[in-house]
Amino acid sequence: MKNYFSIKDIDSLNTWVQEAIELKKTPLSHNQLGKDKTIGLLFFNPSLRTRLSTQKAAMNLGMNVIVMNFTGEGWSLEYGDGTVMDQGNSEHVKEAAQVVSQYCDVLAIRAFAKLEDRKDDYSEKVLKSFIKYAAIPVINMESATGHPLQALTDAITITEHKKTDKPKVVLSWAPHPKALPQAVANSFVEMMQHMDTHFVITHPVGFELASEITKEVPIDYNQESAFKDADFIYVKNWSSYNDYGKIGEDKSWKITQEKMNLTNNAKFMHCLPVRRNVVVEDAVIDSENSIVIEQANNRTYAAQLVLKKILETK
Ligand code: CP
Repeated sequence: MKNYFSIKDIDSLNTWVQEAIELKKTPLSHNQLGKDKTIGLLFFNPSLRTRLSTQKAAMNLGMNVIVMNFTGEGWSLEYGDGTVMDQGNSEHVKEAAQVVSQYCDVLAIRAFAKLEDRKDDYSEKVLKSFIKYAAIPVINMESATGHPLQALTDAITITEHKKTDKPKVVLSWAPHPKALPQAVANSFVEMMQHMDTHFVITHPVGFELASEITKEVPIDYNQESAFKDADFIYVKNWSSYNDYGKIGEDKSWKITQEKMNLTNNAKFMHCLPVRRNVVVEDAVIDSENSIVIEQANNRTYAAQLVLKKILETK
């Protein structure tokens, strides 16, 4: 595998999930695979889980790790072709990507949506420019429109916890005081289309994701009816795709224990970070049905599997 840009780069999801579950049992079993190799982690946005789990995954494979936060530390990058660079940006991605390629064997990048211009965000100019100009494989650590490491993690976690062959999985929107990207939800929806589940999306009117991504997935605008008989409730806020970047704060969509009682004793999932008592009440996230901490633990094995496949290809 050259790059891990989206879940379309997974050739067989079931095989990958099983392989990740095996890696989790013996995480150091391939600790020579990345010996004398270096991964560079470039962050244009904050992170806790992605940064530490990807670093841990690389270390489990014996790799060296370089981390750089562009915000406040790196030169501000230009992406346009033929731009007269007499404004704020100091360096073109053409040079930056080629230079970094000389220091590293693999590159991983986080660059969120700005939520100002949908066309610009959905062009994925940061990740795609690095993929174009870098001479080494590139991993998506959450781009403007997708978070495929999180989605692979979620597929692993659901597989580990499912009690039936075809569980009911509900992706529920929840309120948030800030405008958040659609990336996590987009990749989760794409991933679920490759898993054998009864999958339903529930959100208020006006918060539809891109129809190219949701395709035939049923959407229930009534959160309580969607929750009925669910085995997994996966919660995430996203800002509006159609009224691009519009914040959704409808408090009636908060995840409560009363709503969880409508489910089939469902597991509660969230990618984290989460705003307690805004997105979900304490009683739910602190309940024994909450698997958010185990879910975050699986970030390491998703990243490790992706890195292993890239190292084996090189
Ligand atoms: N879920 C996730 O990507 O967490 P971080 O933003 O902390 O990396």
